[in-house]
Amino acid sequence: MFSLAGKVAIVTGASRGIGFALADGIAAAGATVIAIARSPQPRVPFSNPVRYISADVSGAIGPLFTDVAQTHGRIDILVNAAGISLPGEQQDEAALANFERSLKVNLTSPFACCLAARPYMPPGSSIINVTSIGSVVGLPDNPGYAAAKGGLRMLTKGLAVDYGASGIRVNALAPGYIHTDMTAKSFADLTLNAQRRKHTCLDRWGTVDDLLGAAIFLASNASAYITGHDLIVDGGWTAKGLV
Ligand SMILES: NC(=O)c1ccc[n+]([C@@H]2O[C@H](COP(=O)([O-])OP(=O)(O)OC[C@H]3O[C@@H](n4cnc5c(N)ncnc54)[C@H](OP(=O)(O)O)[C@@H]3O)[C@@H](O)[C@H]2O)c1
Repeated sequence: MFSLAGKVAIVTGASRGIGFALADGIAAAGATVIAIARSPQPRVPFSNPVRYISADVSGAIGPLFTDVAQTHGRIDILVNAAGISLPGEQQDEAALANFERSLKVNLTSPFACCLAARPYMPPGSSIINVTSIGSVVGLPDNPGYAAAKGGLRMLTKGLAVDYGASGIRVNALAPGYIHTDMTAKSFADLTLNAQRRKHTCLDRWGTVDDLLGAAIFLASNASAYITGHDLIVDGGWTAKGLV
């Protein structure tokens, strides 16, 4: 039920961090995986057979998806994991520029990838949009990220409606605090590290591998009747009231 054997998957944001782990894990579950990010190479080699392509998801991505579909026959799984978190900025012009760049990479680009993949997705296909707990709770000092991830959460539900009749499922995977480059600063800061740890029910940060089971579930036939759902993987962060 959880096997991805015979499926073709595209994972964006896969040169490192969460996207890398999901690409590698989805390949281990049997899929043919095409991993995309801007870096010329992934930071470290994949453990499983993964085809890596250097590309910017905020550029013209359509021809690359067409090429993948022509080479591999179709696209069964799309994981939109590419994302950026830009620092909060007091100065107006930089704040606006950061906001617009956040929306472009974190919201418009996943939609562009959905548009590019859809013509090649047979019934039974699955799209997973990596959102964030920042799509359901307010986090400080990053308005563009909050707006983009909240938007991606609702884009997921809208596309679940639009694509449902074609048998394509669209779900969101919402991580809590996971130790990657994106969170390296707060992980290294003893106070912030402890604050984030204590905000979970499980009293620990997440690892990239904590997301893999949920991703395989959403990608596989095990979730055949689930679409438009937010699967929150946050160690209980959003369940907890008093910290
Ligand atoms: N870490 C967390 O705690 C956390 C929590 C909630 C949600 N998330 C989400 O999870 C996803 C992955 O985050 P992460 O923590 O793994 O961050 P990360 O370590 O900074 O990795 C981000 C990935 O996205 C790629 N990327 C960025 N801009 C791109 C672009 N324009 N085109 C193609 N690829 C691009 C990066 O590769 P290149 O630089 O090589 O392009 C890299 O592979 C993001 O969507 C993030 O918002 C993370």
